[in-house]
Amino acid sequence: METMGNLRRTHYCGEVSMADVGTEMVCAGSIAKSRDKGGIIFADLRDSSGILQLVFDEDTPKDTFAKAESLHSEYVVICKGKLRERAAKTDKIKTGAVELYVSELRVLSGAETTPFEIRDEIHVKDELRLKYRYLDLRRPSMHEPLVIRSRICQVIRNYFCDNHFCEIETPMLMKSTPEGARDYLVPSRVNPGHFYALPQSPQLYKQLLMLSGFDRYFQIARCFRDEDLRADRQPEFTQVDEELSFVTADDIMTLNEGLIAKVWKEILDVEVQTPFRRMKWDDAMDTYGSDKPDTRFGMEMQNVTELFKNTAFVPFANVIAEGGTIRAINAKGLAELLTRKTIDKLVDVAKTYGAKGMAYTRITADAVSSSFEKNLTEEEKNALHTALNAEVGDVLLLVSDAKRVTACTALGQVRLEIGRRANLMDPKQFNFLWVTDFPLFEYSEEEGRWVAMHHPFTMPTADSLDKVETDQGSCYADAYDIVLNGVELGGGSIRVNDPVLQDRMFKALGFTEEKARASFGFLMDAYRYGAPPHGGMAYGLDRMVMLMLGRDSIRDVIAFPKVQNASELMSGAPDVVDEKQLRDLSIAYVPQEKN
Ligand code: AMO
Repeated sequence: METMGNLRRTHYCGEVSMADVGTEMVCAGSIAKSRDKGGIIFADLRDSSGILQLVFDEDTPKDTFAKAESLHSEYVVICKGKLRERAAKTDKIKTGAVELYVSELRVLSGAETTPFEIRDEIHVKDELRLKYRYLDLRRPSMHEPLVIRSRICQVIRNYFCDNHFCEIETPMLMKSTPEGARDYLVPSRVNPGHFYALPQSPQLYKQLLMLSGFDRYFQIARCFRDEDLRADRQPEFTQVDEELSFVTADDIMTLNEGLIAKVWKEILDVEVQTPFRRMKWDDAMDTYGSDKPDTRFGMEMQNVTELFKNTAFVPFANVIAEGGTIRAINAKGLAELLTRKTIDKLVDVAKTYGAKGMAYTRITADAVSSSFEKNLTEEEKNALHTALNAEVGDVLLLVSDAKRVTACTALGQVRLEIGRRANLMDPKQFNFLWVTDFPLFEYSEEEGRWVAMHHPFTMPTADSLDKVETDQGSCYADAYDIVLNGVELGGGSIRVNDPVLQDRMFKALGFTEEKARASFGFLMDAYRYGAPPHGGMAYGLDRMVMLMLGRDSIRDVIAFPKVQNASELMSGAPDVVDEKQLRDLSIAYVPQEKN
């Protein structure tokens, strides 16, 4: 093993070009691969910026050539040489027109054979890659997202700083509040039996910062939620969090359109059209069956309930008698793709999302096959076909349900599945959308009460102010989500800044005065001392990076992610701790009884 001696890096591998030919330079990194062709040795040197080919031949000093002969993959080296034009150029790497003709080489570290090859085209189990995450992150396709993520953060910071925002850190150890997802708890040693919670978001603190007169706050904040993992959900994730005083929802949306346009332009060189389309929550549900519609393709839903108001077809008649609804889509021109077998799979999708079934009609040049039309009158059938503009080559799909949300959601998921199967979602297209006017409350069957759809500090729309205690089901919120290609990228709202209204909100949510004070007393008090109107939002940074880079999971853009059961395979967290540590914390482990 050697030291660097007096060699110090002068250039990064991925940044040299034909313009540097003839320059003496020092590069450092790991050997990606080396090829001894007898008398001439080629080695690919990889650093954080890319790959550069090293060359050694009979004119290379003898001791350097001997060291080059001993090189293996992942050896760490520093070397000095002159950059020259390559005889056989390649466009597989950015520096494929040049190579470093090495005169001095120092081997700084050897390396054992790695459990998998460090190159992009490998097929290795996820578990192994995650166990050796530090090796996986050496692969260019895993390395690059983190480098770009850092650049994205820089652009975001600059935008906020240019727009009068102040970056402020809020506590990681805070009070547990009962609303929202489950908290991660941290026991307090000096206050036995007391616990901190890790923040699910900086929500309460950022509101208080507005009361402290900071006017515009932002933070790239780590958040923790003990909830089930999905491709776009991790227990520990990052929000780009912001809060502004003296603004309306409109102002916030406009400012954030500027932010998105800047990030997309600077990172991807993509011109994003602003302002973004806006859609009320009710319309999003009715048209796309989702509060985060993917608008890269049409296939919009229609409400066809009226057409069947006198129908003899029992399932529809029953649903209508219950005050339910019938929704339909026309998968235009997709009859070839949507065979009977495929339609069966789509019915399963609808059922997974709560529908009791899905009626279909498949129209080909030869025949019309339908699961339900034989039960309709000629008029009903014609009215349906006219409403859906049905033609040869189309497939009509209908879901009926007593609950509007169930019918819409189930058919919305079927629509998405068809979109995937028919390749209707162009990965290169970025369709931004604001979804506004969310319901203020949603009824939790589990808790038997109304709960806040966003959080209890969300401002009701002007029309809803009178109905907060009396008609929760028809109250809307001055809240907005930003949606990109069917993914909720972020969301926020205007906040309640009147303590009297806040009291009413807690009452509407079924909080007793004692419970409201115990959880949020400090916040309620704060609003008594003068509170500017304010609002804000937060983006999921991991989701933003994932979508910008066209990745399927936020795991790919997080350095050390967790897996399904919330563990981290490399370090083995979470793990048991010493008895003594538990004793110090006045904690005993009580295994849960299995049912
Ligand atoms: P919300 O709960 O909607 O709002 O979160 C904002 C955004 O954070 C991202 N996100 C997640 N990303 C990865 N893993 C998770 N488990 C996860 N949970 C949420 C989503 C989401 O849109 N304080 C409010 C914002 C506000 O009102 O200002 C909040 O946290 O992209």
